Amino acid sequence: MAFNNKPKKPHLISFHSNFVTALLFILAFTVPLLFIIILHISSSSRCTPFAPNNVEPWSGDLRNMQFAWNRLPFKYIQSPPVVLKIAVFSRKWPTGTTPGGMERHAYTLHTALAHRGHRVHVFTSPLVDNNIDHRDDYPRIRCHEGDAGKWRYNKAWELFDEENRREPFDVVHSESVALPHWLARDLKNLAVSWHGVAFESLQSSIYQDLTRKPNEPMSPAFNDSLYGVVPKVLNEIRFFHNYNHHVAISDSCGEMLRDVYQIPIGRVHVVLNGVDETGFRNDLSLGLEFRSKIGVPINGSLVLGVAGRLVKDKGHPLLYEAFSKLVKKHPHVHLIVAGSGPWENRYKELGPRVQVLGSMSPSELKAFYNAIDVFVNPTLRPQGLDLTLMEAMMSGKAVIASRFPSIKGSIVVNDEFGFMFAPNVESLLETLEEAVREGRKRLAQRGKASQEYAASMFTASKMALAYERLFLCIKNDTFCVYP
Ligand SMILES: *[C@@H]1O[C@H](CO)[C@@H](O)[C@H](O)[C@H]1NC(C)=O
Ligand SMILES: *[C@@H]1O[C@H](CO)[C@@H](O)[C@H](O)[C@H]1NC(C)=O
Ligand SMILES: *[C@@H]1O[C@H](CO)[C@@H](O)[C@H](O)[C@H]1NC(C)=O
Repeated sequence: MAFNNKPKKPHLISFHSNFVTALLFILAFTVPLLFIIILHISSSSRCTPFAPNNVEPWSGDLRNMQFAWNRLPFKYIQSPPVVLKIAVFSRKWPTGTTPGGMERHAYTLHTALAHRGHRVHVFTSPLVDNNIDHRDDYPRIRCHEGDAGKWRYNKAWELFDEENRREPFDVVHSESVALPHWLARDLKNLAVSWHGVAFESLQSSIYQDLTRKPNEPMSPAFNDSLYGVVPKVLNEIRFFHNYNHHVAISDSCGEMLRDVYQIPIGRVHVVLNGVDETGFRNDLSLGLEFRSKIGVPINGSLVLGVAGRLVKDKGHPLLYEAFSKLVKKHPHVHLIVAGSGPWENRYKELGPRVQVLGSMSPSELKAFYNAIDVFVNPTLRPQGLDLTLMEAMMSGKAVIASRFPSIKGSIVVNDEFGFMFAPNVESLLETLEEAVREGRKRLAQRGKASQEYAASMFTASKMALAYERLFLCIKNDTFCVYP
């Protein structure tokens, strides 16, 4: 056969060509392999979007960062690099355990900053509870004269001005419009915290009116607020830029300030509020004890919990209706209601599966969170961020919440943490049924993930470190570079 008749190649050439072939063969395989390995190694070290506990490996000028400062790890050092002299304008200063969102935030933040050694001067209205001792340590409370709880910004400004002339403040912090824009305008070292803006109220009005039944008339008060809110938005957009630095308490509010209010990116900073990490944590036995105290069976199927003021705009009409339908299909499901308000009695109508417990002290609230399987927040007001969601997550619970930009952007940022629903009865009912189907074990897993996220994001100490870094950056540019 022709096949066998090939002339034999000389030995040397044959060896040489075999060697070259083998070499080419080896190179052809190993070089691309090496490339693949090198590319893989360099890409895996470059492109990891999230380091373990959701902490971004981010670097740059903090002023240009568009996500919450809480997402960055701030090294905790006992004493700050520079001791700052800080002025705070707050309409009220809370004493004791009185609740109150904005004032409570000022209190938590500035007490923490004072503990870190900063010289904090608080300018506020005369205290309602005058038992506070006016000591010389910080935070130093400077009440202007007048009636208790009645804010007079011009009196507070006089006190501030006198102290500022004596020895200038490094940073001035206003809780919302406590310091009006015409006075704030000339302070380059000022930051204002917004706990809700009018553009959010506009959305809030829309969500609330959409829950109105076809034959239900609009209340005159609501109609007035609906007509008033657009001029309010326009007004805010026109005066907000007078404040130099803006702190938004949710990622979505930061986006509104940049995109709707047209504040330059470098002047908008997102710092989420924090909750006291010693007050809320996972404690199984505390939860079981609480269940038996209020008569909810330990082996019962699912226990839902809701907390806060029981008013219409917190979405209680939605939960009332959705739960009354749910319990018909799933008679073993329980609902625990912590809080008081007009909807208290309606909930009581729903029978033995609903426990209405009224207002609670912080320690009872801690036990309440531990006693439930999943926390429900049906709010219709997308303004600021509800602390109850953060408290429930810190306690290791999955959450069910209205799908608002603020909640989606800063709280339920991962599907693992719970569920979001469109704020209407059908959508809420569907979501509650999904949670019931999943059962307690799966919800407990979700709760664990929630807790890890909350511990890295929502603690009061994290908030204080973020504000400290912002204030340092306002004082001296070199602190704006991270890490
Ligand atoms: C709502 O207010 C507007 C403007 O004040 C008024 O024209 C309208 O009649 C009101 N509607 C209702 C339902 O009260
Ligand atoms: C829970 O346990 C009690 C008594 O041990 C029992 O009577 C009840 O049927 C149980 N409930 C469920 C939902 O398993
Ligand atoms: C800013 O901080 C840096 C580093 O701490 C320091 O060298 C510089 O003098 C400071 N600048 C001002 C204006 O204080």
